[in-house]
Amino acid sequence: MKLIRSITRMQRISRALKAEKKTIGFVPTMGYLHEGHCSLVRKSVRECDVTVMSIYVNPLQFGPAEDFTKYPRDLNRDAALAKKNGVDYLFVPDDSEMYPASYRTRVEVDGITRTMCGASRPGHFQGVTTVVAKLFNIVMPDSAYFGQKDIQQALVITAMARDLNLPIKIKVLPIVREPGGLAMSSRNAYLSESRRREVRIVYRALTAARGLIRRGERRSAVIIAKMKKLLSTIKSVKIDYIVIVDPCGLLPKKKIAGTTIIAAAIFVDNVRLIDNIVIKV
Ligand code: PAJ
Repeated sequence: MKLIRSITRMQRISRALKAEKKTIGFVPTMGYLHEGHCSLVRKSVRECDVTVMSIYVNPLQFGPAEDFTKYPRDLNRDAALAKKNGVDYLFVPDDSEMYPASYRTRVEVDGITRTMCGASRPGHFQGVTTVVAKLFNIVMPDSAYFGQKDIQQALVITAMARDLNLPIKIKVLPIVREPGGLAMSSRNAYLSESRRREVRIVYRALTAARGLIRRGERRSAVIIAKMKKLLSTIKSVKIDYIVIVDPCGLLPKKKIAGTTIIAAAIFVDNVRLIDNIVIKV
C-alpha cells in the first residue's frame, strides 16, 4: 500500500491506472477506521482492480460548535487496517492543499439536504458534496462506496453524481453493527462502555418499529410514538429527530407503503449518533 499526500501525485497515479485500463474503486472516509469502513474496502477490492481510500477530516462539513478539532484521528492504526483490508493507495491530503487561502467553490444539492441531518446541521451537506466532488476529481474512480449508515449522505451524493453527469457508480452498502446492534461509528469512541450499552436503545427502537410494521401497523405517527417512548426510557438520550420518510424526496410519509426509511438521530453526552432501517412492504 502506498501513502499519497499530494493531490497532483494522486491525480497522476489515477491517470496512469486509467491508461492501463484498470478500474478504480474509491472509499472516502474521515479515518478512525472500523469494520463499517473496512466492509466498503473489501467490496471495492472484490469489484475493482485497484482500491483507493481517502482519509480526510473535512473542516467544511463541521458546524462551528461541532467536533472538528476533537474528531478522533490515528493515522498509524488506520494505515495498518487499510493495508490489511486490501487498500492499494491511501490518500491523505493536507488542509492547505485541499482548501488554500484562495479557495472559493462550493457544491450544493438542493431539497433533500434540507431535511433530517440537514435541518440540524446547516451547511453540513454542502461541505460533504464539496469535498466529495473534489475527491472524485482527484481520484477519478469508476465506482465509489458509501455506507447506508449515512443514508441521507449516500442519497445526496447519488443525486450529485447524477445531476453533474459524473461517470462514477455510487454503491451503497449495508450498516455494520456491533454485537448489541449499535451501528459502528468513529464517534462511538467518545462514549464510555455504559453509554455504549445505553445507546443500543436506538437500534432497539428501529427494530421495534419494524416489528410493528410486520404486525400490520401502517400509521407513521403510531410507530414514531412507540419509538419515542422506548427512547425516553434512557435518561441520557436526547432525541434530535425520528422520521419516517420516502427514499426519493426524504419527505415525511403518513402511512408506510412501498420503500420507506425510518431514521433516528440522538444526542448522548453531546455526541450525535444516527441510525436507520429501510422497510419494504
Ligand atoms: P466517515 O464517517 O468516515 O464514513 C466513511 C464511509 O463509511 C461513509 O460512506 C459511511 O456511511 C460509511 N460508514 C460509516 N459507518 C458505517 C457502518 N457502521 N456501516 C457501514 N458503513 C459505514 O461519511 C464520511 O466519513 C464523510 O462525510 C465523507 C463521505 C468521507 C466526506 O467527508
